[in-house]
Amino acid sequence: MASVKVLENIFWVGAIDWNIRTFHGFTYSTHRGTTYNAYLIVDEKTALVDSVYVPFTEEMMENIREIIDPSKIDYIVVNHVEPDHSGAISEVLKQSPNAKLVGTARCQAGLQKHYFGNWDFKVVKTDDEMSLGERSLKFIEAPMLHWPDSMFTYVEEDALLLPNDAFGQHWATSKRFDDEIDENILMDEAAKYYANILWPFSGLVIKKIEEIQKMGVKINMIAPSHGVIWRSNPSRIVEAYLGWAKGDARDRILVVYDTMWGSTEKMAKAIIEGIMSEGVETILLRLPFSDRGDIFKELIYSKGILLGSSTINNGILPTVAPFLEELKGLRPKNKIAAAFGSFGWGSGAVKEIEEKLEKADIEIVAPALTVKWVPDESEIQKCFEFGKEFAKKVKKS
Ligand code: FEO
Repeated sequence: MASVKVLENIFWVGAIDWNIRTFHGFTYSTHRGTTYNAYLIVDEKTALVDSVYVPFTEEMMENIREIIDPSKIDYIVVNHVEPDHSGAISEVLKQSPNAKLVGTARCQAGLQKHYFGNWDFKVVKTDDEMSLGERSLKFIEAPMLHWPDSMFTYVEEDALLLPNDAFGQHWATSKRFDDEIDENILMDEAAKYYANILWPFSGLVIKKIEEIQKMGVKINMIAPSHGVIWRSNPSRIVEAYLGWAKGDARDRILVVYDTMWGSTEKMAKAIIEGIMSEGVETILLRLPFSDRGDIFKELIYSKGILLGSSTINNGILPTVAPFLEELKGLRPKNKIAAAFGSFGWGSGAVKEIEEKLEKADIEIVAPALTVKWVPDESEIQKCFEFGKEFAKKVKKS
């Protein structure tokens, strides 16, 4: 795709990865692909802000060549070391031999350990400014959003924030701006991105947004490193981040389970009947058929989660384990939970679910519900009541 004008003399020169379907190894499903956004700011001095994943290097260089001779690039601002944004730097430096890299001290160390280059590097920290001529760049360190090296770059004259991964979405689209695409899909992809990448750092997200607000940084446009640019009321994604970081969610219960011979599934279906009898929204997902990344997105919208597993070898089904393991790392805020499941001669699954929920800092608000072998009529009624009582707790939470 050709370069795209973002503002006068500021251009998107990134690449669209239409076919990527997993990100961060196999942890994040990218059903809609992604983009690697790089931005070229042309002034008396020319700066390239971030680059692209290495297979897309030539695409980016072609986009740059449409605008200037790459040898004219003076600075390459590296907001983040991760290879999807730094992979092309070695090649850019071959074609832009006078360019100096700009980033945090941790970025310098991280680049060295990734690429082993002896590169000219200018270390910057929060509040440092660098004039390009008519425009100037201001830097804001953003450690652990989401790597230690992460940094935001701010173009003061345009109130343009270039926050790299923050506020991104994995969505390959021919459009480059938020007001050109479907708002519901956009916010859904932004929510999935937050849940799968930024959830563990929610405390830092709140602090960083508050810090930027206190600095009086005006924001007219947010141009992240993945997905589209927020130019239409960008405060809505900032507000959404604050809400997700604080754990704001609807009266909604996510029921996630797997079943061996159908008993835990019968329990799950009776439980959601109980939830619905309280007028509370619910969604039922069986693990092997549902994508983990999508389930975490559903959790961001839900105040409560009920987790079910049949017992095997006195523990959870192996299909449930990866979900719980990742949940432990994501540590979603302000959720309530309970466990359920069928068993034959030892109900170890619910105990293991509860242990994992505790490690994820999720509050367990009801004793686990278990059923031996197949639920009979009275046990189905107990499942219904379990769902109903949990729904009441969600309404009160
Ligand atoms: Fe898009 Fe942390 O890289």
